[in-house]
Amino acid sequence: MFRILEARFLAPDVKYFRIEAPSIARSRRAGQFVILRVAADGERIPLTIADGDASGGWIAVIVQGVGKTTKHLNTLGAGASIHDVAGPLGMPSHIQNFGTAVSIGGGVGTAIAYPTAVALKRAGNYVISIVGGRSREYVIMEPALRDISDEFYPCTDDGSYGFHGFVTQKLQGLIDEGKTLDLVLAIGPIPMMRAVADVTRPFGIKTIVSLNPIMVDGTGMCGGCRVSVGGETRFACVDGPEFDAHEVDFDLMERRNKAYLGFERNRLEAFLEQVQT
Ligand SMILES: Cc1cc2nc3c(=O)[nH]c(=O)nc-3n(C[C@H](O)[C@H](O)[C@H](O)COP(=O)(O)OP(=O)(O)OC[C@H]3O[C@@H](n4cnc5c(N)ncnc54)[C@H](O)[C@@H]3O)c2cc1C
Ligand code: FES
Repeated sequence: MFRILEARFLAPDVKYFRIEAPSIARSRRAGQFVILRVAADGERIPLTIADGDASGGWIAVIVQGVGKTTKHLNTLGAGASIHDVAGPLGMPSHIQNFGTAVSIGGGVGTAIAYPTAVALKRAGNYVISIVGGRSREYVIMEPALRDISDEFYPCTDDGSYGFHGFVTQKLQGLIDEGKTLDLVLAIGPIPMMRAVADVTRPFGIKTIVSLNPIMVDGTGMCGGCRVSVGGETRFACVDGPEFDAHEVDFDLMERRNKAYLGFERNRLEAFLEQVQT
């Protein structure tokens, strides 16, 4: 059992958890994730390690309630326990001094981009963070990101805060201003990552995305997370989750991620009925 030390909402349906997990906290690196089960008979869900402290023996995850398991997890508070947490899994982010690195987070993707942005800053990069949300309340982790960024741009779809528009428009604006960008890291919904790749491709800017296909075992055995990158089949759990954005077949990934939609909807409806009665 893994004890929840702290739990608080950052935005509607987006919750921050600090979890006691000393061995994961000791070995985790930016870009890696855990697979957890809320209860013994529950499904296994992958979540990026958003933060951690080896001496304090804890890791943090940030969870967007989208379906049965994430909504169930978001009902838990400090003092409750999670049945199991396996990790760290996946390849760590490739970190070096690229020069100017742009870290782009869409919605809960911001939480996933954060540890990599911290590692890029520590490696000596000039870090520009662009963070998008539907409206002001969905722009998460602002103080932490402002702290480690040389430039920080919040963007909202409805213009309620920061730049009025999508993160891709802000990115295009920086390119148009003549800024030299050496690396773009984009993490968020599939359409957003695809759009970022389309902006940077004509300029030949190295662009990395962290993919979120369906995962089951997280160890390369089940094949559930296979994606096509540069025409080759790769397993996001062991070969990724980060890949060259210009090489990813986003159409295929989008189709595969929708494969269980009907089943997922039924499970969520059953869960909501159960908590309401
Ligand atoms: C490497 C990785 C890191 C992730 N990190 C985070 C994170 O830090 N915070 C966060 O909120 N979410 C993260 N996700 C997505 C998260 O795992 C899914 O939202 C979650 O599994 C949905 O489960 P559910 O039962 O609540 O919803 P469901 O109703 O089962 O699914 C809702 C949607 O989530 C996706 N999904 C479902 N099951 C899985 C699965 N086993 N693996 C991946 N995606 C799935 C599908 O696109 C589906 O349409 C990550 C996914 C991956 C692959
Ligand atoms: S999750 Fe099973 S192979 Fe990657």
